[in-house]
Amino acid sequence: MSSPSIETVSTTAAAERSLFSASQARIERLRDRFQQIRKFTNALCAGLEPEDCVVQSMPDVSPTKWHLAHTTWFFETFILKKFVPGYRAEIPEYAYLFNSYYNAAGDMHRRDLRGLISRPTVNEAQRYRASIDSHIDNLLSNPDDSLLDEIEPILVLGIHHEQQHQELLITDIKHVFAQNPLHPVFRPSGNDGARRRPDVATRRPYQFIDFEQTIIEIGHEGRGFAYDNESPRHQALVLPFALASRPVTNGEYMAFIEDNGYARAEFWLSLGWMTVNEQRWDAPLYWTKCDGTWWNFTLSGFRPVDESEPVTHISYFEADAYANWAGARLPTELEWERAASGCPIDGNFVEDELFHPAAVPSASSAEALAKPDAETSPQHRHLVQIFGDVWEWTRSSYSPYPGYRAAPGALGEYNGKFMCNQYVLRGGSCATSRTHIRRTYRNFFQPEKRWQFTGIRLARDPG
Ligand SMILES: [Fe+2]
Repeated sequence: MSSPSIETVSTTAAAERSLFSASQARIERLRDRFQQIRKFTNALCAGLEPEDCVVQSMPDVSPTKWHLAHTTWFFETFILKKFVPGYRAEIPEYAYLFNSYYNAAGDMHRRDLRGLISRPTVNEAQRYRASIDSHIDNLLSNPDDSLLDEIEPILVLGIHHEQQHQELLITDIKHVFAQNPLHPVFRPSGNDGARRRPDVATRRPYQFIDFEQTIIEIGHEGRGFAYDNESPRHQALVLPFALASRPVTNGEYMAFIEDNGYARAEFWLSLGWMTVNEQRWDAPLYWTKCDGTWWNFTLSGFRPVDESEPVTHISYFEADAYANWAGARLPTELEWERAASGCPIDGNFVEDELFHPAAVPSASSAEALAKPDAETSPQHRHLVQIFGDVWEWTRSSYSPYPGYRAAPGALGEYNGKFMCNQYVLRGGSCATSRTHIRRTYRNFFQPEKRWQFTGIRLARDPG
């Protein structure tokens, strides 16, 4: 056998170096992403006191401390316990306390009793986070490629899971603070200057943008991360429709209230009418009328309702009733995805630190936004605030796409088992991370829920 030439040896060594550096780069990217997301959760809590972090103001709300520990439990349960030989949990009881709903992962504490867990303390929950972060860091210090192939998709899922909990942490602490007559401030409105705040006279009315009938591809196209509920990608017929150029504003919603919309059964679904009467709703969550003026509790304090901001914290029932009153309807999720497929993913997200929807564009800024651009179709140029600000209710029930199968095991419980009695929301909100949202992203809530940043974009049939 002839020995390899110097040239062959150096080529092989170069190839190995290249593979090694590609593998290292992949690990570093993953580690950076993991650390960045974990730090951002901690940064969101920076202004909170321990007393803030333990309150559960209603069964849907989880205490901040629980979010901190549960997101950590996710990485411990689905990565460390599975992939670290001989791993032993420091505090095994956390598996019961901080499992949310994964039956295949074991028993769990009752959701509505999370506010009664005074121990572990907030400090202990933070120590738990630091300990698991350190274990993950060790695991990522030198994994071989086959281990990395197994860990990476679960770690990425855990990162997106934590981003979902960052949003819940924000909306939950808002609900907690809203119960306090002292109106605590989560973040002073330091970034208020970034708001576009047209006065009512210059606010541009929404327009309806027409879309023709077509067959489109719906769902995740396969590149990058997506939840299983966004697949399989499939063809769907979308009939002609028109979509409003922007979300409905507080000012427009006030007209519905002033027209006695909450007291007129003709606009409401039967279940909605029952709910609105049982709950005695007469305005969006967090609105209070003082001396004839509507005030709004926000994460930056209690202040008069700004008529130019998108209305938010409304249920599906209220969104549907408003649409009926306005002579329109809510879009289907297929219509929404079709419209959004031509729009860039930009907007007011959690990274902008407003923690509140930004005002709709004034007439002049809407003209500027609508300037011709070679990349964008004429219809899409006129659609604004599709992403960020407020989740937009659709009239689509949350159900599986054709061919959907939930994955086996505990992680298969992430989405599939909730496909009943909920409606799909699209587009993300001011509490969603920019790196978390997609055009195909399907959020879902029961129709009576109001504590998320949920809003309205109208649609209508042609003619
Ligand atoms: Fe969770």
